[in-house]
Amino acid sequence: MVDTLPVSFGYENIKRVIIPENELKARIAEVGKCISLEYSEKPLLLIAILKGSFIFLADLCREITVPCEVEFMRSSSYVGNSTVSTGNPKDIFGIDKDISKYHVLLVEDIVDTGKTLVRVTEQLKKLNPLSLKVCTLLDKPERREVDFSPDFALFIVPDVFVVGYGLDFDEKYRNLPYIAEVSL
Ligand code: XMP
Ligand code: MG
Repeated sequence: MVDTLPVSFGYENIKRVIIPENELKARIAEVGKCISLEYSEKPLLLIAILKGSFIFLADLCREITVPCEVEFMRSSSYVGNSTVSTGNPKDIFGIDKDISKYHVLLVEDIVDTGKTLVRVTEQLKKLNPLSLKVCTLLDKPERREVDFSPDFALFIVPDVFVVGYGLDFDEKYRNLPYIAEVSL
């Protein structure tokens, strides 16, 4: 089924669908199986970086067939409707578990310059998890500024600003069920 673009008021900036809903679902199911195999018999903790990963986390964890726990943290380097990182990120850890007892899988919406994940993984490593890996829904390798490779990257996207399925532009469009390019 081809996703049609919404024509209602407020969606004028949506240019084209990049990843339709059925492709998101199929790929998440595939990666959920890989994660289930890799973490069977291991205490698994998913840590989702809010807000962008909330829908991905919700769908991914339901494709994981081994026991897992979930925590959330925040990291933000954007201000208002800017699409460029401020370079002055704020990380707010809301994790009230001793992560040294878990194999941690960080769940992120998109890796862009890579700076967020380099910083967050360095901070989490100090808390001595049994292991630490990163699963990102989207990867924009063309934009990389630091050396970082996610362990699981579900889709490679071009260097355009994308929204939907949790990702926003100025807090809007998170509710779109697909990934779309936005015209700025
Ligand atoms: P870095 O550059 O540190 O940034 O890898 C990662 C964070 O930047 C946001 N980001 C985007 N958000 N559409 C979005 O809605 C995009 O195309 C985009 N590119 C980067 C996102 O919050 C990610 O966690
Ligand atoms: Mg993010």
